[in-house]
Amino acid sequence: MSVKTINDIRVSFLSYFETKKHLKQPSAPLLPAGDPSLLFTTAGMVPFKDFFSGVKNPPASRLVSVQKCLRTTDLESVGKTKRHLSFFEMLGNFSFGDYFKKEAIEFAWEYSTEFLPFPKDRIWISIFENDDEAHDIWHKHIGVPKERIVRLGRADNFWGPAGESGACGPCSELYLDRGEQFGTDAENQAPGGSGDRFMEFWNLVFNQFDFQKGEYLPLAKTGIDTGAGLERLATLVQGVDSVFDTDELQILRENAAQIFSAKYTGEGVVALRVLADHIRTLTFAMSDGIFPSNESRGYVLRRVLRRAMLFGRKLGQKEPQLYKLCGTVNEIYGKFYTELNQNIPFITDYIREEEVRFLRTLDSGADRLEGFFSDLKARKMTTLTGKDAFQLYDTFGFPLEMTVELAEFENLHVDIEGFKAEMEKQRERGRAAWKGALELPIDRNIKTEFIGYNQLTAQSTIIGIVSDSGKLESLSEKNANGLCFILTDKTPFYAEGGGQLGDNGYIKGAKGSARITDCRKQNDAFVHLVTDIEGILTTGEIAEFTVDRERRAALMQHHSATHLLNAALRENLGTHIKQSGSLVHPEYLRFDFAHPKAMSAEEIRLVEASVNNVISKNLKVETAVLSKTEAEKRGAVMTFGEKYGDVVRVVEMGDFSKEFCGGTHVANTGDIGSFFIQRESSPGAGNRRIEAVAGNAAKAALRAKLYEIENVLHDMGAAAPTGLKAEYSKLSADQVQTSAANWRSALELSAAVLNAQQEIKKQLKKAESTQGKDSAAGDAEIILKNIVSLPSGVNLGMHNFQGKSINDLKLIIDGARGKRSDALYAAVSQNETETIFVCAGTSAYVAEKEIVLGQIIKSAPANLGVTGGGKNEMVQGKIRADAKEMLEYLKGAL
Ligand code: SER
Repeated sequence: MSVKTINDIRVSFLSYFETKKHLKQPSAPLLPAGDPSLLFTTAGMVPFKDFFSGVKNPPASRLVSVQKCLRTTDLESVGKTKRHLSFFEMLGNFSFGDYFKKEAIEFAWEYSTEFLPFPKDRIWISIFENDDEAHDIWHKHIGVPKERIVRLGRADNFWGPAGESGACGPCSELYLDRGEQFGTDAENQAPGGSGDRFMEFWNLVFNQFDFQKGEYLPLAKTGIDTGAGLERLATLVQGVDSVFDTDELQILRENAAQIFSAKYTGEGVVALRVLADHIRTLTFAMSDGIFPSNESRGYVLRRVLRRAMLFGRKLGQKEPQLYKLCGTVNEIYGKFYTELNQNIPFITDYIREEEVRFLRTLDSGADRLEGFFSDLKARKMTTLTGKDAFQLYDTFGFPLEMTVELAEFENLHVDIEGFKAEMEKQRERGRAAWKGALELPIDRNIKTEFIGYNQLTAQSTIIGIVSDSGKLESLSEKNANGLCFILTDKTPFYAEGGGQLGDNGYIKGAKGSARITDCRKQNDAFVHLVTDIEGILTTGEIAEFTVDRERRAALMQHHSATHLLNAALRENLGTHIKQSGSLVHPEYLRFDFAHPKAMSAEEIRLVEASVNNVISKNLKVETAVLSKTEAEKRGAVMTFGEKYGDVVRVVEMGDFSKEFCGGTHVANTGDIGSFFIQRESSPGAGNRRIEAVAGNAAKAALRAKLYEIENVLHDMGAAAPTGLKAEYSKLSADQVQTSAANWRSALELSAAVLNAQQEIKKQLKKAESTQGKDSAAGDAEIILKNIVSLPSGVNLGMHNFQGKSINDLKLIIDGARGKRSDALYAAVSQNETETIFVCAGTSAYVAEKEIVLGQIIKSAPANLGVTGGGKNEMVQGKIRADAKEMLEYLKGAL
């Protein structure tokens, strides 16, 4: 059988290794389970790290997989070269303590020459410089001529570990000579050069070390980890020019060309390759629960998304388009990676929303960037300051790496250290957040008009500026001292009140701009807290004040949800419910109320259902300004402890909720989206507290919960109860996931899954302790065999174990003491993070030989770093030095 398409290769690779007794494994998620040192699954072996290190047992000693991988270290190169991809698939066969070099080489050779099939005389081999064993297998056993085997150094032919620790070892790679038409210069003479002629297509890693904290320790299970990048292999099999011309990626880039109305020529080449690659990365990563955000993995993903959008923009597109490609990704890959199917609608939505959000700032950001560049060029300078790069990041959301890449296009650099310093300064400012009551030197009579119920941007007059150094006429970065505040005649910024946090946003004046990071009231004056001042803002000038729209929308959803919650509590628990405190945050709400006892699960469910019911009715939210008496007559609820004037504002949601409130709300209850109660607790005697989420925060909470469940199930592997797995599949396949019913089911399932995991762990412990006793008896035999007679006449039995606990060592010595009492025993175990020891004999024997074990431990030379102690017949402790050195010392000391 010969193979042609990408899918042929997937299928034939898996089945070839199945005939060689390998167990097929599904691809693990891109988010590595339980390995914080790795952002993503970067290689086929990542899900199997614990099998190599011996922490877990593999389901079989030979595995084969096609693994989704994500590598973003070379993101800037993607699109510009023929072979770089940020998402790719890796074919791999693995052996854990089963076969080693010989079979790994035989398999790779047979599959490459008979199934792909590549001509034998065009395959070249690289090996690690001194790996004569691999050389002989390739040359003598397989018959590859010496001239086509090259020895390369560590950088090329030693692989791993993935992340900071774990399996690694020398490797051997297979290359295909694509012919002289790809080059004949020095770089194209043999594998290892930078030319295109010799293309590496398969890496065979001979894992024999476990890299831990700078040391290469022996690996628990030596074995084989091989990796062949599927797209690269297909490039060779299909004889095409680049990975982007292989059958599947070609469909994706052609679709991108259509959607972005672009041609795959000239400037379009890089852009379309970027779009085809990045949409795969985004779709697969989000399907595995990694979402664009400002932290860690999410930040990398946001960077990918924004980079794709920038290239879309280069193609002249200024509207959201990228999201349209998600469907194509599913059409191509959904058959093999079925997890995509159910997630596509959600991912499409999510990407579109991210696009809309970023496009809003991209225009002004791109202008600003151009401005910086032309300014630098005019001044014949080549480095963009850290401060300017930070402004692009902070105000316009340009990831640093993106700015660096754009600068490189113009032959400019970015001061990265300067950028980091700016980032730190901003964190400092955040930490010094303003707390406590305001006592600013401002006139009691100033009254700011709030116009932000219906508009989010306004031209307002700056009527005062105050900083830590007192009143100011104007504000610039130079005289900005500590916290700085701006007062205005009117403002669209909501000032913190009624539990709702103040708005954030921007001010833009004629000669300067700044960010507003909070807004509060002092008497009737609204005070805007400003940071990142650029240029100058002056008292008396009219400036544009713009509220951050997304954040405000999230605040409104949570505020309106708070009212519905208040009403639902009264409906379900009784009209005695009185709000005693509340916090309306863009990401959640907190609601405290007096109530004598904890709510039952059923009560929580009912309250949540009432709120969602009103949301689904999409009632109009109406506000009225009334006299206090009129409002009371209508039955509007007052908040306990708030002071109200004669004229009040009432917010009504049908007949369900009527409250005195000055806050900002959604227009219709449907705008809240959905509402989930996350927790019910007590903040203090007689009071209850509900924490809940609404809108996008609710969607995200449900997804996070489902993802958490999936992770635990994945962790339990085959031991996961099928009932729970089925329930999970049902729940995650539900297209209208964001419902309160699904939220409740997810909470219940999460509890059940965690319980099951605990149960399995308990059973494992039990099994291990029985096993422990059995293996201790075996280990005691080892130590008994090793007894030597020292010149002093003491018999000493010693052994250097691995991965044992102090208890294990004691059991072993007990076993040995029981069999032979005329000896002293020392058992050492060199473990991942420390080396431990137990040294003991029967009390009769130590007395007879006048051994003082405590003294021997105390007088150990300092370089051994021995700590510990115990009784005279048994001491235990830790050693900093190597286990062997400790045993040598004991031999001498006894
Ligand atoms: N881990 C090796 C690689 O990623 C082989 O699978 O190249």
